[in-house]
Amino acid sequence: MMNNLKIPQHTAIIMDGNGRWATARNLPRSAGHKAGAERISDLLKSAKKFNIPFVTVYAFSTENWKRPQPEVDALMTLLDNFLTSYTGKLMQENVRLFVIGRLEQLSNKLQKKIAEAIEKTSKNTGLTFTIALNYGGRSEIADSAKKIAIDIQSGKISPADIDEKLFSTYLYQPELPDVDLLIRTSGELRISNFLLWQISYAEIFVTPTLWPDFDENTLLQAITAFNSRDRRLGGLNK
Ligand code: FPP
Repeated sequence: MMNNLKIPQHTAIIMDGNGRWATARNLPRSAGHKAGAERISDLLKSAKKFNIPFVTVYAFSTENWKRPQPEVDALMTLLDNFLTSYTGKLMQENVRLFVIGRLEQLSNKLQKKIAEAIEKTSKNTGLTFTIALNYGGRSEIADSAKKIAIDIQSGKISPADIDEKLFSTYLYQPELPDVDLLIRTSGELRISNFLLWQISYAEIFVTPTLWPDFDENTLLQAITAFNSRDRRLGGLNK
């Protein structure tokens, strides 16, 4: 059955429900984030098995700074540890890492680690794994507009050149294709400022599963749902 499935080229995931997962176990919220970070390895394994070429996860939004400082610190530490302990595994698995967001607002140490991990994995030809970090969809669009304005000011492009295709090349990571499948865990029916430009025609799959419980079977459910959708992309099916 798996062989006949149409595979979404770019699957993006809003990894929600870590806090609820922890609270249900009388654990601090940070334990939920830790359990959530530990799911990444299996996620990449499953994505590879299903031949999904692009997987993007929402690790920290531009709004997440409003959380209590200890929780923000715990998330930053998790990301730092992930880059330290996981880059070797990404190399082994031939995974290319991208990180998108306002990275200049992160600590210098974290920025350096991110740059190193991106550089180290840049020649890998397998799956592309993107972490959205200090990411906001509106910020991305505003930042792109700013870069375009700078290039107009310097005469590199003219206003008449601006179309959707050109605009896309000014996004944080122009190599990311449009999202085909957007998965949100833990039941909420929101976009939460994620990849606004790229999700125009994405199919949305929401599962009640909390992110730390997400597994290959949940991913398969999402892909199966994706296969049952009639993607007309604005046209008509003959
Ligand atoms: C949402 O759950 C989740 C986050 C804000 C953080 C997601 C981060 C990770 C899974 C760990 C780090 C990622 C990587 C790539 C190493 P929530 O806290 O909003 O849960 P709740 O809605 O149940 O409170």
